[in-house]
Amino acid sequence: MKPASFAARVAAWQRTHGRHDLPWQNTRDAYRIWLSEVMLQQTQVATVTPYYLRFLAEFPDVRALAAAPLARVLEHWSGLGYYRRAHHLHAAARAVVALHGGVFPDDAAALAALPGIGRSTAAAIATFAGGAPAAILDGNVKRVLARHRAVAGFPGTAEVERALWRLAEALLPRRGAVAYTQGLMDLGATVCTRGTPLCGECPVAADCEARITARTALLPTPRPKRQLPHRTVRVLVIERAGEILFERRPAAGIWGGLWSLPEAAPDDDVARHCLARFGAVVTVGAALPPIAHGFTHYRLTIEPQRIGVAAWPSRAEAPGLAWLTPGAARAAALPAPIRRLLRDL
Ligand code: ADE
Repeated sequence: MKPASFAARVAAWQRTHGRHDLPWQNTRDAYRIWLSEVMLQQTQVATVTPYYLRFLAEFPDVRALAAAPLARVLEHWSGLGYYRRAHHLHAAARAVVALHGGVFPDDAAALAALPGIGRSTAAAIATFAGGAPAAILDGNVKRVLARHRAVAGFPGTAEVERALWRLAEALLPRRGAVAYTQGLMDLGATVCTRGTPLCGECPVAADCEARITARTALLPTPRPKRQLPHRTVRVLVIERAGEILFERRPAAGIWGGLWSLPEAAPDDDVARHCLARFGAVVTVGAALPPIAHGFTHYRLTIEPQRIGVAAWPSRAEAPGLAWLTPGAARAAALPAPIRRLLRDL
C-alpha cells in the first residue's frame, strides 16, 4: 500500500492531536483570523490569547477598528510588543473599509497588498477564512520542512527561503487545507520544536530526512555566526640545554596566571626582539606550523618560532620567567594550544 501523503498525515494528525479550541479557531470571520495571525506573528499563543480576547471585545469588527483613533488601538496592544504591527493593523483596517467596503478580500494576493500582511500571513488568512487556500511558511513551518526534506542553509537567506516556499507550495493539498495548515502550525509548535523534537509523536517521522540521518539538531541551519576579529601572535620556543623558557601570563586577561611562551609581534625581527627584551644573543631557528585557536571574542593564530640561545645574561632571569624541561612543562598549568605545541615539538 502506498504510504499516505505528507499532507494527509499532517491533516489526520491535526484532527486527532492538534489544537482545536484556540479562540481564533472555529470561525471563518476573516477579521478575527487576521487579528490572530498578526498578533501571532512574533508572539506565542499563551501571551496572545488574553490580548486577543480584550482586543475583540473593544473592536468587534473591522469597521470598529477603522473608526477608532490609533492611540486607542495602541493602548490595547500595549504589552504585546512590536508596535509596528499595531500601526499596520490600524492602517489595514482603514484600507479594508476604504477600498473593499469593509469586507476582507478572500484571496492571498489581495490580502498581501494590505499593510502588515506578508505572504505567509495572507495565505493563513485565506486558508482559514475559506478563501482560496495557499501555502504558509512561518518560522515554525520552515523548521518542519527544513527537517523533513533536509533543506540545509540558513532559512533567512533568499535562496533557502525560495527553496522552502517551493516545497511548501508542492506539499499543499488540494483538499483539507484548513486541517493541514493548522496541522503544520501545531506540529511546529508542539512536536517539531526547536530544542529536542518529539519525533516519537510525529506523523511524518517515517520519512523525515533529518530524523533518519540524525540531523534534527543541525537543521534548520542556524544563522551564520558573526565573523570574529582575528589576531596573530608569534610565540617564541626559546631552547637552552634541554629546557624551554616559559613566561607567566598576567592574572587578568586571556590565560590569566597560566605559564605560556614569550610572545612577539608577527612582524618583529625576533633576534633584535630577544636582544632588546632579555639582552640575549639568539639564533633564529625554524618557524613551526601555525596553530588556530578560538576564543569567544576573537580568533587567534599562533605562529611558533624556534629560537636557539648563544648567550643568556643572568640579569634576564626574573620571577615571571622559568626554564622548564618538557616533563616539568607538562605538569605545569599551560594554555591548551601551548600544551599541544609542546607535544608536537
Ligand atoms: N501561529 C500562527 N498562526 C497560528 C494559528 N492559527 N494557530 C496557532 N498558532 C499560530
